[in-house]
Amino acid sequence: MDLKQYVTIVENWPKEGIRFKDITTLMDNGEAYRYATDQIVSYAQDKDIDLIVGPEARGFIIGCPVAYALGVGFAPVRKDGKLPRETVKVDYGLEYGKDVLTIHRDAIKPGQRVLITDDLLATGGTIEATIKLVEELGGIVAGIAFLIELTYLDGREKLDGYDVLTLMQY
Ligand code: PRP
Repeated sequence: MDLKQYVTIVENWPKEGIRFKDITTLMDNGEAYRYATDQIVSYAQDKDIDLIVGPEARGFIIGCPVAYALGVGFAPVRKDGKLPRETVKVDYGLEYGKDVLTIHRDAIKPGQRVLITDDLLATGGTIEATIKLVEELGGIVAGIAFLIELTYLDGREKLDGYDVLTLMQY
């Protein structure tokens, strides 16, 4: 299946000059959403994954069906102030600014094998920060899966040495 046909390119959003990749038109198509999920499940199948970790908000949309299919849990990475219990935090730079990401301190047990999921690899700042959180808690990043990679932003350079899957490249 050619997944790109389900992604809508929105010109000049959220600001002038950005060609935003809107995945909502992929998610609201049952066949396309299942196909994309199945690709990530196949990739993860032989990695002995214990837990899926995804950053808000779109990392949840990708990661949760994969967690269900693999029969493993899902731990959310959220922006500061959203998680109710003790967290670890990391500062990160993203395509349009700066922010803080957090995860519950007890979300990952040392030695657990983690698959990180998100919709988009742009500059790589979000996933670099997510990796730091996972590793700070003793998790092993066994794979990282995205729907989309914006190759011209070179986010992959930040993921050197990690096992990365991207389903679509622009
Ligand atoms: C977007 C996207 C990725 C990230 C990619 O999320 O969903 O998580 O940016 O950019 P990067 O590779 O340059 O870090 P955003 O921060 O807009 O959050 P949202 O999903 O909650 O809207």
